[in-house]
Amino acid sequence: MRRLFLIVLLWLPLLCFTCSASAETFTCLACHSAMKGKIRTEAGALINVNVDGEQYAASVHGGFDCLTCHKQLSTNPHEPAKTAGIPKNVASLAGKIPHKAKVDPIALAACVECHDAAYDALQQSVHGKNVIDKKQSDGALCIDCHGSPHYITPKNTAASMVGKKNIVKTCGECHENEELAKKYNFGTHILERYRESFHGKKYIIGHPNAPTCVNCHGYHDVRKWDDPKSPVAWDNRTETCGKCHKGATKKFVTAITHKHIGKDAPIPYWFEKGLIVLLLSVFAFITGHVILEAISEIRDRIFRKKEGHHE
Ligand code: HEC
Ligand code: HEC
Ligand code: HEC
Ligand code: HEC
Ligand code: HEC
Ligand code: HEC
Ligand code: HEC
Repeated sequence: MRRLFLIVLLWLPLLCFTCSASAETFTCLACHSAMKGKIRTEAGALINVNVDGEQYAASVHGGFDCLTCHKQLSTNPHEPAKTAGIPKNVASLAGKIPHKAKVDPIALAACVECHDAAYDALQQSVHGKNVIDKKQSDGALCIDCHGSPHYITPKNTAASMVGKKNIVKTCGECHENEELAKKYNFGTHILERYRESFHGKKYIIGHPNAPTCVNCHGYHDVRKWDDPKSPVAWDNRTETCGKCHKGATKKFVTAITHKHIGKDAPIPYWFEKGLIVLLLSVFAFITGHVILEAISEIRDRIFRKKEGHHE
């Protein structure tokens, strides 16, 4: 009996910890699962105040308290949050990405606390650099690819925005956007060209091994294609394509292109230029021929007239 009492006593603090954590979340959800629609905050952001409690609980982070990420809430209508403080790496990152956050840069940066490897890779990527170094808000951070932070499911589930089924659409959100394509000069028809390619066609009909964007470009450390560390840089292409095409050669890998035609894609560029030159020469030849014919006709007539005069 005494033993049992001791065991219960020892477990009590732990029980209390978990019950207080979920009680906190319960309080948050009391308002946030009941509220529907969008609200404009005092700072002017239009937010979706609804958090679906069940869908949250079923997500990969469902076991966590809301304050795990929301370490610092706006005071109205909230009380100052009782959190364990803000870790250094989260605070430092939050200071670099406020322009990307809608309401809460601390929550947006909180991912680094548990997923620091993903963040390290992202910071080196063209997307991370766009936000952190260039101070733009166009590049992708975690939730641009993974979707709402409240409903993330494992990558092998149908709902995952980064799973095979949805990833092309996810990258397409930005890469099909004409404005962004123009601003960053990455060519406007990437998605269209992908879908028209033999890879895209196989993907659409559900071929299990058809490559999506991430098989060729990677995902957390996506780089410009001419960055030597990009998996699609010329020197790495045989290896990247070779994962599926055994023995891919330098010649084989030139078969793929979905970028816009420019000098940096030498083969299609000169092929197109060649076609234009060919077409122009044919035109020039025909026009020249017609003009010469006309001149000789005119000269003939004048000559004949003159001759007639002489007679
Ligand atoms: C009394 C109801 C209520 C409770 C309880 C509540 N919220 Fe809110 N929350 C709101 C309302 C209303 C807004 C819209 C805020 C505005 O108008 O600025 C909001 C906004 C937010 C926002 C976005 C804007 C901001 O101010 O940061 C976050 C994040 C948030 N709540 C998280 C939480 C968390 C986490 C909890 C639990 C610790 C919680 N809320 C508890 C009513 C509530
Ligand atoms: C895994 C981290 C994480 C957890 C756990 C989390 N949130 Fe969030 N939440 C975020 C991030 C990131 C944002 C977006 C912040 C931004 O862009 O400024 C956000 C945004 C919000 C917003 C604003 C919605 C909008 O339109 O952007 C509300 C409201 C909110 N959270 C409430 C909650 C509540 C309630 C809980 C607990 C049930 C919770 N969050 C748990 C990370 C989290
Ligand atoms: C307190 C720690 C913690 C924080 C903060 C956190 N996560 Fe997680 N995350 C986890 C754990 C634990 C899992 C489940 C185990 C796993 O699969 O790694 C997970 C899983 C994930 C997965 C699913 C991985 C898969 O299996 O496909 C993604 C994606 C993810 N988190 C993204 C985020 C993002 C984005 C943020 C910031 C908004 C964030 N996490 C914040 C701990 C955390
Ligand atoms: C450009 C889009 C993109 C961004 C930005 C992004 N992810 Fe991912 N993430 C993916 C894709 C795609 C996968 C799944 C890859 C696969 O199919 O194996 C993934 C997988 C994951 C996983 C599962 C483990 C793994 O490596 O497969 C975790 C955890 C994760 N991401 C967390 C994060 C966090 C945290 C951030 C922010 C630092 C982030 N992601 C930013 C696209 C992205
Ligand atoms: C939130 C928007 C967004 C999402 C989502 C996104 N990207 Fe990007 N991406 C950009 C922007 C903006 C740039 C240009 C950044 C710059 O140059 O500063 C870029 C650049 C790139 C580049 C380099 C282009 C070049 O100039 O060579 C590649 C490759 C790329 N993204 C692939 C992907 C892939 C693959 C995915 C999905 C896993 C993805 N992106 C998801 C916005 C996005
Ligand atoms: C994730 C696997 C994967 C990757 C990576 C990949 N491919 Fe493919 N590729 C395929 C599949 C699957 C097909 C369709 C094959 C079939 O139906 O027999 C295909 C078809 C092709 C074809 C059509 C002719 C043929 O041999 O069937 C060419 C050309 C091709 N790929 C080139 C490339 C190039 C170049 C790269 C690298 C830039 C690349 N592939 C990367 C899986 C891949
Ligand atoms: C089979 C491999 C492969 C697949 C699949 C693939 N790419 Fe590419 N991508 C490349 C290669 C190789 C380049 C380098 C330029 C070239 O030679 O076309 C490139 C270039 C790019 C560029 C830069 C283009 C520019 O104009 O500078 C972007 C952006 C891009 N890809 C995005 C995507 C997106 C988004 C997807 C998914 C819809 C995707 N890629 C699918 C191989 C691939």
